[in-house]
Amino acid sequence: MAYRNNQPYNELPLLPPPDGIETAAVLRRCITAREALAELRWAGKLVPNQAILINAIPLQEARLSSEIENIVTTQDALYRAAVDAEGQSDPAAREVLRYRTALRRGYEALLAGQRISIDLMLDLCATIRASDANLRDQEPILIEDVAARAAIYTPPRGRARIVGLLQNLVAFLNEASALDPLVRLAAAHYQFEAIHPFVDGNGRTGRILNVLYLIQERLLEIPVLYLSRYIIQTKQAYYRRLRAVTEQGDWQGWLLYMLEGIEQTARWTTGRIEAIRALIDATAERVRAELPGIYSPELVELVFVQPYCKIGFVVEAGIAQRNAASRYLRELERIGVLQGERVGREMVYRNPALLELLST
Ligand SMILES: Nc1ncnc2c1ncn2[C@@H]1O[C@H](COP(=O)(O)OP(=O)(O)OP(=O)(O)O)[C@@H](O)[C@H]1O
Ligand SMILES: [Mg+2]
Repeated sequence: MAYRNNQPYNELPLLPPPDGIETAAVLRRCITAREALAELRWAGKLVPNQAILINAIPLQEARLSSEIENIVTTQDALYRAAVDAEGQSDPAAREVLRYRTALRRGYEALLAGQRISIDLMLDLCATIRASDANLRDQEPILIEDVAARAAIYTPPRGRARIVGLLQNLVAFLNEASALDPLVRLAAAHYQFEAIHPFVDGNGRTGRILNVLYLIQERLLEIPVLYLSRYIIQTKQAYYRRLRAVTEQGDWQGWLLYMLEGIEQTARWTTGRIEAIRALIDATAERVRAELPGIYSPELVELVFVQPYCKIGFVVEAGIAQRNAASRYLRELERIGVLQGERVGREMVYRNPALLELLST
């Protein structure tokens, strides 16, 4: 039956993609993308406290990924929500934090030895949406070009069919294969979005799976890669490339698009990590010179683990008791490393240089 974009695509082919998709151009791109990932792994290892990367970068990735769904939050609202999890904060910021929580849960599941599975997908999507996630069944659903009021794509319908397609996808990701893992990642991302297993949250769940798969394949050690940044910046191409696979079987264009994204983002993230490291070193130098009485590497690292710091964090980190902790933060403010502001009854100190770095 011919493909129609307003009819459920129940004939979505199973993976693997047709033979011959690993052309010379694709393989060349895999090599350079893997080199870029290796540099990123290396840069990450050189940061003294991994918590700095695991907190800050996934939070930015969460913000960017959520922006695709038009959940826009400011940097500030976001970090404020991050230090004040239970307080009532901006709903968009809370939604972005849920994305980070999902990414972290997925990462921890892999560390605990799990592999990508349908249950993990359900868990990610439920966490993002803060509700139960069920696989779609008969709900009418279609991807539309809202401006043109035209159907773009209608995913397959029926829970049993969706389960079968997902089982095939999971097997494709987890079973030994001659395909390069980056080709598998790209093919799986198309397939996941084409299956569109949930009523909502498919884009975000799929983007988290990309990062998790790199970790599962040991191409990345911690969940730091701003892949969503590339997808936002090239959103039109992203949608067009997905469509071209469905409508023209254009795997080549899709694979090259994704590989280019992995490579660019890996290089870009490496640059960010190096800049964070240089900033930590310069800050440590300054605090040691100007505040020798309170300097410790732990104190400096702490104001990088979260771009917002509170007295309680210093106490919890075992660096000082309450009174001394409060004085330390005020001293850091005096020399311009931090900026304090009152939030409710408490003082919160932002690290402006780090925030600036993360926001660009
Ligand atoms: N033609 C297409 N074929 C298959 N999948 C598509 C197509 N166009 C878009 N998509 C996918 O659908 C996703 C949107 O689906 P959904 O609204 O369920 O996800 P979301 O996480 O809520 O949103 P978003 O991805 O916009 O943040 C897009 O991110 C993209 O991955
Ligand atoms: Mg949506």
